[in-house]
Amino acid sequence: TGRPSYRIASIPADGIGPEVIEAGITVLKKLASTLDAFDLDFTSFDWGSDRYKREGKYLPDDGLETLKKYDAILFGAVGAPDVPDHISLWQLRLAICQPLQQYANVRPTKVFRGTKSPLSNCRKGELDWVIVRENSEGEYAGHGGRSHVGQPWEVSTEVSIFTRHGVERLMRFAYQLAKSRPRKHITVVTKSNAQRNGMVMWDEIASIVAKDFPDVTSDKMLVDAMTTRMVLKPETLDTIVATNLHADILSDLAAALAGSIGIAPTSNLDPTRENPSMFEPIHGSAFDITGKGIANPVATFWTACEMLTWLGQKEAADTLLSIVEDVCESGVMTQDLGGSATTIEVTNAVCNEISRQL
Ligand code: NAI
Ligand code: MG
Repeated sequence: TGRPSYRIASIPADGIGPEVIEAGITVLKKLASTLDAFDLDFTSFDWGSDRYKREGKYLPDDGLETLKKYDAILFGAVGAPDVPDHISLWQLRLAICQPLQQYANVRPTKVFRGTKSPLSNCRKGELDWVIVRENSEGEYAGHGGRSHVGQPWEVSTEVSIFTRHGVERLMRFAYQLAKSRPRKHITVVTKSNAQRNGMVMWDEIASIVAKDFPDVTSDKMLVDAMTTRMVLKPETLDTIVATNLHADILSDLAAALAGSIGIAPTSNLDPTRENPSMFEPIHGSAFDITGKGIANPVATFWTACEMLTWLGQKEAADTLLSIVEDVCESGVMTQDLGGSATTIEVTNAVCNEISRQL
């Protein structure tokens, strides 16, 4: 058997996206050359808001076909101050996730060694969650419209789409993930009291799928009550599954409770592996700090670890994540984590630690 080699499409896109993706690629190349066990080959695509403003398109016509030739996609962030957010999001990120059927969005959160949760009641190891977000339909299916635009009698609809197929495949994925974690516990989040159609179906499907996972314990939460449980009893949670909108909100809260949005990764997975999966930091393009050299690259480093795990290099991924935590613990952190290091200083510290430890 030959030495594994992975082709990665990188789409740095906007704002701090290029800054953190460059840091991520630097660290990944350093890891691969030091371990000398697999190869990573990166191709960068300039699909972002500048291209949109120049050519009227984020994604070229053959963009999806191009991406399908890669083993994985490493994405930065999209969004520019002078482009409406619904255009950038729908024409780039969702234009990739939805057709490539990356239906499971996975968002792990934990408090890194050397960093602190803003929760004073949270002891070491107590906040260690993974949120599974439905990533292909639900509230973000794009169904709806506007009539009589601008008139006092304007009407707009935003229709959530929940299909049995879509909910069941996601639920199976989430239970499988819960089963693979030590706690084997899942919390199914809905709003099935007020949203009495799609959310009730969601609950029903969860209880059907649960029967196939007898060793996984589950409980149910309404999304509003879930926010208080995350803050007040973080230790009672492990794997969390929720809809596209609910999990979008809960995962930003989770990232903040773990210390900063600057550390959290997200994976957009096609669990069938028919299409490449896409890996990105949770944060956006952060115009307020773009170009200052202070963006936290740790979210992209953790994202790189998630990508390596998906590609079959779990050992290398675990090693890298532990090195990133060592660097945080040594105090080399950006401002959002209470430190004073720059993006490049954190990146260099991780590269030096790779050389030292491996
Ligand atoms: P944001 O995540 O870009 O920024 C929120 C706050 O967190 C800002 O104060 C920012 O400075 C800080 N922050 C974010 N990432 C950081 C990092 N790595 N290190 C240090 N601080 C960091 O969210 P915001 O401001 O709501 O959105 C800005 C743009 O990004 C918008 O156009 C939005 O649509 C887009 N966006 C794109 C996403 C994506 O591409 N997946 C996700 C979220 C937002
Ligand atoms: Mg979000």
